Amino acid sequence: MGQYQHIVVLTGAGISADSGLATFRAADGLWEDHRIEEVATPEAFMKNPALVHRFYKLRRQAAAQAQPNRAHICLADVATQSDDFTLISQNVDDLHQRAGSEDVLSIHGQLNQYQCVQCHVVDQIGHDELNEHSVCPHCQSHGSLRPDIVWFGEMPLYLDDIMTRLMRCDLFVAIGTSGTVYPAAGFVEIAKRNKAHTVMLNLDGTDNALFDEVRTGRASQVVPAYFYDKLGFKPPDL
Ligand code: OAD
Repeated sequence: MGQYQHIVVLTGAGISADSGLATFRAADGLWEDHRIEEVATPEAFMKNPALVHRFYKLRRQAAAQAQPNRAHICLADVATQSDDFTLISQNVDDLHQRAGSEDVLSIHGQLNQYQCVQCHVVDQIGHDELNEHSVCPHCQSHGSLRPDIVWFGEMPLYLDDIMTRLMRCDLFVAIGTSGTVYPAAGFVEIAKRNKAHTVMLNLDGTDNALFDEVRTGRASQVVPAYFYDKLGFKPPDL
């Protein structure tokens, strides 16, 4: 449908800001006086697992209380109207999934999952919160569970699949991301090199010349306005 056949959307923390979740680079990227980069690393986890578990526990609680907003819902809806629609998210909350998006490529992992560093199983975190004493239900190792999050210095997920999709897309839309963390920040360049039309929907403008179009505003407003009003996707019946 519409003028674009192969759409790739990349989302960042800004899309969940309208659901009440803090972005990373708001408040100087600090959490309880720690730089985010000092908490979200394998080294931080080895040094102080209790601190890292506490950080992610608070984020899991905030995400569980938040609801998907109109931007998450719009993307789930547009995907059902498009033959080739890829949603890549840097976010570790599950608001895209709860809005109805399927096959989200969560390149930085998922807050509600754990990973066992001994047996490498990945599973859902149940009612029991993770802590440094948690026992892996699969291999019974003690203290071996970590959040299933891609930390600084680790390799984001799904990169091969993403490269294939970026090389065939004719529309690339970045939503609510500061474009400071690679490799995601470089996706626009790959799409652009392959002649896709590139769009940024963000609260602040950007002087990044790789974007053909920049629309500023809150994601819950600019995302539906772009896909329904500009591109002509059909809004859901109210
Ligand atoms: P950032 O916090 O770096 O950027 C959020 C962007 O969203 C900024 O450009 C804001 O201006 C914009 N924004 C804020 N509120 C908005 C709203 N209501 N509507 C639209 N835009 C809004 O977050 P990310 O770019 O997602 O990585 O950060 C990238 C990665 O850095 C994260 O995935 C995380 C972090 O460190 C890991 O944890 C590995």
